[in-house]
Amino acid sequence: MTSHPPDGPAPGLISPLLLAWYDRHHRILPWRITPQMAQDGVLPEPYHVWLSEVMLQQTTVGAVKPYFTNFLARWPTVEDLAAAPVEDVMAAWAGLGYYARARNLKKCAEAVARDHGGRFPDTEEGLRQLPGIGDYTAAAVAAIAFNRPAAVMDGNIERVVTRLYTIETPLPAAKPLIKKKVAALTPSDRPGDCAQAMMDLGATICTPKRPSCVLCPLREICRGLKTDDPERFPVKAAKKDKPVRVGAAFIAVTDNGHILLRRRIDSGLLGGMTEVPTTSWTARLDGTVDLSEAPFEGAWQPSGTVIHVFTHFELRLSVWRLNAPAPLPLHDAWWEPVTNLERAALPTVMKKAISAAIPEAFRTARKVSS
Ligand code: ADE
Repeated sequence: MTSHPPDGPAPGLISPLLLAWYDRHHRILPWRITPQMAQDGVLPEPYHVWLSEVMLQQTTVGAVKPYFTNFLARWPTVEDLAAAPVEDVMAAWAGLGYYARARNLKKCAEAVARDHGGRFPDTEEGLRQLPGIGDYTAAAVAAIAFNRPAAVMDGNIERVVTRLYTIETPLPAAKPLIKKKVAALTPSDRPGDCAQAMMDLGATICTPKRPSCVLCPLREICRGLKTDDPERFPVKAAKKDKPVRVGAAFIAVTDNGHILLRRRIDSGLLGGMTEVPTTSWTARLDGTVDLSEAPFEGAWQPSGTVIHVFTHFELRLSVWRLNAPAPLPLHDAWWEPVTNLERAALPTVMKKAISAAIPEAFRTARKVSS
């Protein structure tokens, strides 16, 4: 067995291997420029980098691509996004989850347009001052868009680094140590490519399960591989079960295809988003649904249960459907044609509830193409 220094691989060894691998194997993504362009001194458009990084905190690269393309088609510059009605931005964001991010996205675009003449600040500290930009986004945009040697940390990078150095402390307690390691290995000449190389490595080779270590550019220096169990890293802290909340969702549909919708209050979870009427979501698990909380009296029929996992709790909604003969006027809700639902700013949990009661509600796109 090769012996290893107690502190793990020397930081200077890492980025040359990563960058040589990235030059050949980088993923081609709509917000990226090629490593060749980067080495020729071209910088990517900061608006594109920022937008993609905010979206990528929500979901996977594959899921982000169509949202990113759609946002750029509708709002080609940060000033366009700043000038857009917030409802349009929320509707375009719907499906990406965590709507506070969409609100902050808009506020950040407004701040860049209003206070910075439409140009993003080019340092980590300057970016950090903008609304909705946290440590991750500031470091990622500084490194990728402005070539600043910022220490970028995301889930992929944390996995690569904890394996490389066999960091035994579980996350999140290990983050300060990981950050030190990332700062030490980040080169001053191509910091953005180095960060993206680790992201790509984590996404394609140093995967959570069954990593492809034989293909890894760091295999000769990876301490995790020497342990024969790189998958053990990052070490996981014992998981707490998520609390469960329960509630009921009411799907009222008229004979001429209108569904009852309302708007959630601006603050809190899914703030300002459109929803079907629901009871409050309680932690009481006695399973009883109080139909007196329905938007109006009627022969509500059970249409199954949907489960949706939010960051801090799991929601189980029993779904009730009523065929309403005519659209009764209601002061805090409206009747929307079911055919418009695809375009409404509906959170995923509400789409699930509607689909349980109206299976064809979100199938129009498929119908057209088949
Ligand atoms: N995940 C988050 N940011 C990314 C990026 N710039 N490239 C690839 N994956 C990412």
